[in-house]
Amino acid sequence: RDQRLLAGKKVLITAGGTVERIDPVRYLTNDSSGKMGFAIAETARSMGAQVTLVAAKTSVPAPGGVELVRVQSAQEMLNAVIERLADSDIVIKAAAVADYRPVETAVRKIKKNDEEINVRLVKNPDILQTVGRMKTTQYVVGFAAETERIDEHAMDKLQRKNCDLLVANDVTLEGAGFGTDTNLVRFYDRQGLVEALPLMSKHGVARQLLTLIAERIQTKEGT
Ligand code: C5P
Repeated sequence: RDQRLLAGKKVLITAGGTVERIDPVRYLTNDSSGKMGFAIAETARSMGAQVTLVAAKTSVPAPGGVELVRVQSAQEMLNAVIERLADSDIVIKAAAVADYRPVETAVRKIKKNDEEINVRLVKNPDILQTVGRMKTTQYVVGFAAETERIDEHAMDKLQRKNCDLLVANDVTLEGAGFGTDTNLVRFYDRQGLVEALPLMSKHGVARQLLTLIAERIQTKEGT
C-alpha cells in the first residue's frame, strides 16, 4: 500500500513559533502551536521517512521516532536548517518565524523605572528564502497564512522564495490556522493551484501533502 511512500527519504521539517528575546525573562513570539509541523513529522515517519524536526516554541508534545532539534530564535532555526540542508531530500517549513527580533537582548531583566521604554526591532532572516536560494536537489515546501487574496499572495510567495510547493491557508476562516486541530488549505506549484482541500484534520492535511510530494519527487527522479 502507500504506507512506505517515503521510504529512505530524509525529511527536514520546521515547526512552532520562534522566540525572540527582549531580556532573560521576556520575549516576542506568535500564536503558532506546532500542531501542523508535528502532524507532518509524525505522518512522514509513518510513511517510512527519516525525519528531522527543528522545533521552536510549541504547545503540544513532539512526536516520537524523529530526530528532535530544539531552537528558540529565527537565527538559531536558520543555522539548524542550513547545517542539515545538504543531507535532506525534502524540506518543509511549517514554522511561524517571527518577522522581527529585538536589536539587542538585555543581559539583565529590564527594570520598570521609566514610564516609556523603546524596544527597537530589526528584520529576521527569511529562512525559506535562504533555503530556496541554496537548494540543489531538495524539494522545498513553504507555508503561507493569508487573510485576503490567497491565490495571488500564495503564488507571489512561491516565486519569491523559490519553493517547489506552497501550502496556503486562509486564517480568517473558522477551523483553519493557529492552534486548531483542523486546517483548510490549498496547494500551489509553479503552474498555479494544484488542489483545494476541504476542511480536515491537520493529520489529514499532512497525509495529502506528503502523498503529493512523494508523487512529485518520484516523477522528478524519473522512476
Ligand atoms: O513570508 P511569510 O512569513 O508569510 O512566509 C511563510 C513561509 O516562509 C513559511 O513557510 C515560513 O516558515 C517561512 N518563513 C521563514 N523565515 C521567515 C519568515 C517566513 O522561513 N523569516
